[in-house]
Parts: sequence; structure tokens; C-alpha cells
Amino acid sequence: MSAIIQFQNIEKTYDEKTIMRDFNLNIEKGEFLTIIGSSGCGKTTLLKMVNGLIRPDNGNIWIRQRNINDINLIALIRSIGYCIQGSVLFPHMTVEENISYVPNLLNRRNKQKTQQAVAKWLKIVGLADDLRLRYPSELSGGQQQRVGIARALASSPEILLMDEPFGAVDEITRSQLQTEIKEIHKKTSVTIVFVTHDVAEAFYLGTKILILDSGIIQQYDTPQNIISAPANQFVEKMLKTHHTQYDILKNLS
Ligand SMILES: Nc1ncnc2c1ncn2[C@@H]1O[C@H](COP(=O)(O)OP(=O)(O)O)[C@@H](O)[C@H]1O
Ligand SMILES: [Mg+2]
Repeated sequence: MSAIIQFQNIEKTYDEKTIMRDFNLNIEKGEFLTIIGSSGCGKTTLLKMVNGLIRPDNGNIWIRQRNINDINLIALIRSIGYCIQGSVLFPHMTVEENISYVPNLLNRRNKQKTQQAVAKWLKIVGLADDLRLRYPSELSGGQQQRVGIARALASSPEILLMDEPFGAVDEITRSQLQTEIKEIHKKTSVTIVFVTHDVAEAFYLGTKILILDSGIIQQYDTPQNIISAPANQFVEKMLKTHHTQYDILKNLS
């Protein structure tokens, strides 16, 4: 098995606070990895290290077996899909322009290819085609989030990073988006790294789950293995506190 993302002996310090030391992690290609941990434990930092927005102080990051330091930053950012909470759409651009922004940069000459990509991704994320010409301010929160996902996927990235992407939408929309992203993962071979603080969400979506506390890996395994054999008291407590085992098992499919 070859890892598509590798963290090797990573250390990260903000001001004088070291939030990660000797951090190691291999993420396999095609995985839907959910990262769960309390606020401030280093989830966002970890994600932003993958697309080069944050650099470690020590250690190496390998993307597709290439050292991140040897990859052009702009090329790296464009090759990795990135979704965050709330609307990050360009407000002065229509839905279509938002979704086709990166594909246009990548295949500048092929407008038709771009148009087809827009139609395809609108459909996949469950948006009606007639929303194409609307501006973000003319969409609901859930629709904006869907456009954000379509935009992140439109350049057909091999890696999709999602940082608490469904945190700002209502319960019903969130559950629809969860179903859709799970389907998208099944249909495409995209490797997803998805940060959440919602235990049920992590167990529903993840093919692997990484449980993090203060920058330290508590457990990294499949949902089934974590439930049947929690690695330590932290994991046990997390499972007990947030949901009954029944709730989590019910969601596993
Ligand atoms: N730019 C920064 N400057 C100083 N401290 C930061 C900065 N970014 C994050 N931190 C701190 O690092 C820790 C981890 O942050 P973060 O990765 O955002 O955690 P999470 O996403 O899990 O909530 C937190 O204690 C946070 O306050
Ligand atoms: Mg965060």
C-alpha cells in the first residue's frame, strides 16, 4: 500500500506553544479519513499542512511521494480541493463562475470541457441547473455549501480537504450533505480528509477515523475496530460521552 499523504516527524509551534511534536501519519489513497478531536487540538493545522497553507517547523510532508517543499505552492493549492465551513464563494461571481474558476485556470482553452464539468458537478451535489446564474447572496446556506463542494471537486482533485464543512447548516441539510459526500466518495476515487468535532459524523463518513487530542494520535483505525476495541480511556470516554454505542452502530453502513 502506498500513502498519498505522509506526515513524518512533524513539529509545529505557534508563538511559544508547541501543538504537535514528532507527529507521524500515513493516509492511504482512496480513503475517507475523518479527523475528530476537541477544539484547539490541531485539526485545522494538520489539514492546512497538506495544501501548504501552513508549514511545519520540523519534519517532512509527502504528497504522492513528493516532498511538499519541492512542489510549487500555487500548483499544490490548485491540485487539492479545499472546503471550509460557511460560504467561501466569490461573492461577485455566479454559481457557474465559482465552480468553473479553477477548471478555467487549468484548461483555459477548453470552455466546453469546463461547461460540462459545471453541469456534472451541479448534478452530483444535488443542485438544480437553473441556479447556474445566481450569485451566492441569492442562495440558502445549504446551497452555498453545495456550490462550495462542487467548486472544490470541479478540478477533479485526487485529494479533497474538508474542514468542518457542514457546521453552519441546519440538521436536515447536514444529513443530506453527509449522504451526498459519502456517495461522491464511492463514485470517485478521491481521497478525502474531513475534519469534524461531531463523533456521529466521523463514524458515519469515515473509512478510517483519526482521534486526536492535544496533537497526539489517540487511535487511528476503522470505525468498526475503534468501537470494538477503543485504544484507551480517552477514546472510550469519547464514545460514551457523545453518543451511545447504539447511535454510532446504527449509523455505520
Ligand atoms: N496562527 C496562529 N497563531 C497562534 N496560535 C495558533 C494559530 N493557529 C492556531 N493556533 C493555536 O494552535 C492550536 C491548534 O489550532 P487549530 O489547528 O486551529 O485547532 P483545531 O482546528 O483543532 O481547533 C490552538 O491552540 C490554536 O489556538
Ligand atoms: Mg479548526
